[in-house]
Amino acid sequence: MVTVNKGKWDKYESLKYKHKFNKKWIKECYRILKDDGTIWISGTLHNIYSIGVALEEEGFKIMNNITWQKTNPPPNLACKTFTHSTETILWARKDIKRCKYKFNYELMKEMNHGKQMKDVWTTSLTKPSEKKCGKHPTQKPLEILDKIILASTKENDIILDPFCGSSTTGISANRLNRAYIGIDNSKEYLDLSKRRYFEQ
Ligand SMILES: C[S@@+](CC[C@H](N)C(=O)[O-])C[C@H]1O[C@@H](n2cnc3c(N)ncnc32)[C@H](O)[C@@H]1O
Repeated sequence: MVTVNKGKWDKYESLKYKHKFNKKWIKECYRILKDDGTIWISGTLHNIYSIGVALEEEGFKIMNNITWQKTNPPPNLACKTFTHSTETILWARKDIKRCKYKFNYELMKEMNHGKQMKDVWTTSLTKPSEKKCGKHPTQKPLEILDKIILASTKENDIILDPFCGSSTTGISANRLNRAYIGIDNSKEYLDLSKRRYFEQ
């Protein structure tokens, strides 16, 4: 049995507040993102629709809507809806003319056994071996972050994760020789990030 209560950070006072907050941080991301950089945001149905609208309102163009399909989702104990087994990952660039954003198309094809990679990515939930330093309620599998980073960056690029949690983004960035900046308003998760970093 797993709790659906992920913590205070996952709760919003109202729809209006949620959207205002999403617009605010997405605007800041736009300000600091290089013109050839891209942004990836994952979320569930509770937040991803507001994020999609906020991205467009703040000058981004959504290029893909990736569905991360989990092979072993926790069962839906209430039995009042279908079992939640996916997350959406939006990939967007700045909506500017001749935007030369990076997409390592050939590498993605190679990783997909010579076939164009599709926008449905199937993996298991984060493996226990990736949680040896402690637990974060929404820790992503390294496999997903590796794919994102390999698809859209090159070595020595700088990657920012403004809601880094246990820093899966950072661990993956490190393994792939990219620089990383992580932000979280929870000391507990920043400490977990450090433990993961030193454990490598
Ligand atoms: C979805 S989790 C990130 C999980 C991460 N991808 C991982 O693999 O561990 C979102 C994180 O955002 C943090 N957070 C929530 N509100 C925040 C805020 N206003 N400023 C900074 N961090 C915040 C939470 O503490 C939480 O760890």
